[in-house]
Amino acid sequence: MLKDTFNRPLRDLRISVTDRCNFRCTYCMPAEIFGEGYKFLPREQLLTFEEIERLVRIIVRLGAVKLRLTGGEPLVRQDIEQLVAMLAEVEGVEDMALTTNAFFLPQKAQLLRDAGLQRVTVSLDSLDDAVFQRMNGSRSSVQKVLEGIAAADAVGLGPVKINTVVQRGVNDHMLVDLARYCKDHGYIVRFIEYMDVGTMNGWRMDDVVPADEIVARIDAELPLEPIGKNYHGEVARRYRFRDGGGEIGLITSVTKPFCGSCTRMRLSPEGQIFTCLFAAQGTDLREPLRSGASDDDIEQIIRHTWGARIDRYSEERSELTEPRDKKVEMYHIGG
Ligand code: GTP
Ligand code: 5AD
Ligand code: SF4
Ligand code: SF4
Repeated sequence: MLKDTFNRPLRDLRISVTDRCNFRCTYCMPAEIFGEGYKFLPREQLLTFEEIERLVRIIVRLGAVKLRLTGGEPLVRQDIEQLVAMLAEVEGVEDMALTTNAFFLPQKAQLLRDAGLQRVTVSLDSLDDAVFQRMNGSRSSVQKVLEGIAAADAVGLGPVKINTVVQRGVNDHMLVDLARYCKDHGYIVRFIEYMDVGTMNGWRMDDVVPADEIVARIDAELPLEPIGKNYHGEVARRYRFRDGGGEIGLITSVTKPFCGSCTRMRLSPEGQIFTCLFAAQGTDLREPLRSGASDDDIEQIIRHTWGARIDRYSEERSELTEPRDKKVEMYHIGG
């Protein structure tokens, strides 16, 4: 089995299918930078669905069992359900999920389900409409996202998980309401410590609300108890409500990093693989794909890249005096 320099296997592949998004979240694609004139990748630079499928077959042979489609916003890629259908046929894939802002789920949920998608994770930062709109560049109401979530739930793309990026002084005043809403609807909310991904969000440690603090605030109103992981390498720390109804998760990449069990590889829309969310550069597979390389040739490139992997950025962060000045952007490789 393929292992990296820290003996970590390759188990998950996260596929970013587009660098575009219809939202402008302040911590990801701030509207001042991603305006009308912003040059996103031209279509010919994106991997085709056939190219993605071919890479997935190779990467699954190397050990990946979980796939996650992301972006940007994956539902703005035309006919994304066709890709889902192609990947659902790949032998060895045990789990296929998609991370979305939910805006297009009312139209797309049934198509995705029929194509073979198993579940969705929806990003929703607040139930307070004014706060949410401020965070997404006024591109969507809360109501619209809740409708998308309900549509996914109704067609069986559940249990739906909700990702909430927590920023101190921005959206941390209504976390208990969000936890209660998700509990009541059977959704699993995961609170994510705000991270210094990319180079554009002006991250400061003061903006982070540590997971322990989030747990304490929720526990005070909705008593919680910790529960174990679903599988080795699961990112979220889980807690269940003591009254028996539902669970929440905490993603502690700042205060308690989990690089030791990181089994994730990321594929960018234009065909580069990245071995860390904070990597400065990727390894290009598009050029070999388009110049006649065999599956074995491509497999060798991937083996070499993963075999040489030394990434543990979140663990190193606390030791760095200066942040890295070159990092891939979140909207480019997904969460
Ligand atoms: P499940 O398959 O449902 O367990 O999904 P998951 O736990 O992999 O969750 P998801 O893909 O939704 O990840 C949630 C969030 O955690 C992402 O959006 C990122 O913000 C963060 N995250 C995921 N993977 C990593 C990682 O490898 N490193 C860091 N630092 N953060 C990560
Ligand atoms: N810190 C933590 N999570 C982030 N996401 C995007 N940027 C950040 C950040 N700086 C989350 C999004 C989405 C997922 C793809 O990653 O909210 O849920
Ligand atoms: Fe779009 Fe997601 Fe980035 Fe928000 S966090 S701008 S929804 S890709
Ligand atoms: Fe994996 Fe890099 Fe995240 Fe660490 S910081 S968990 S190595 S993606």
